Amino acid sequence: MKDLKEFVRDIPDFPKEGVVYKDISPLLQDPEAMHRAVELFLEKLDGIKIDKVIGIEARGFFFATLLAEKLNAGFIPLRKPGKLPYKTIKEEYALEYGTDSLEIHEDAFERGEKILIHDDVLATGGTALAACKLVERMGGEIAQCDFLVELEFLNGREKLKGYQIESLLKY
Ligand code: PRP
Repeated sequence: MKDLKEFVRDIPDFPKEGVVYKDISPLLQDPEAMHRAVELFLEKLDGIKIDKVIGIEARGFFFATLLAEKLNAGFIPLRKPGKLPYKTIKEEYALEYGTDSLEIHEDAFERGEKILIHDDVLATGGTALAACKLVERMGGEIAQCDFLVELEFLNGREKLKGYQIESLLKY
């Protein structure tokens, strides 16, 4: 089959001027490509036992749920503020200008559970680092962070030093 990179298209100047957006829609539209991506993610885990898979809103949800099902693990959404209905715990993180935050349900997992964090893109790493800190504050053990796309020139991996980082498509 075609290289998975052929299912990711560049959209210049989205969502703002100067940014080249990696659009994974073609990959999601192709069942074979999606299946291949799931297989590759499972290979990267190499049999590590995972209790819960956390998907980061919004595009992290797609593969996080597929992986959770394959791993016989639970799925947990990490959401932007105000979206979760029950009691939440919040982690703030810095953006280029200002701050943003992510929330999780306070009863999403038990202390000591093994967590896989998943997102579609690793860019500067700010989002994933906030996810890691939140999980650790709640007593979770981060087994791995995996990403479909890694924008290596933004050095997100450096920010996540100390964690096991895997990505399928590097740019
Ligand atoms: C994108 C992407 C990651 C994050 C990566 O999310 O899906 O979550 O940015 O950036 P970072 O490594 O620099 O923190 P976005 O905020 O565009 O949200 P979306 O998935 O809801 O579109």
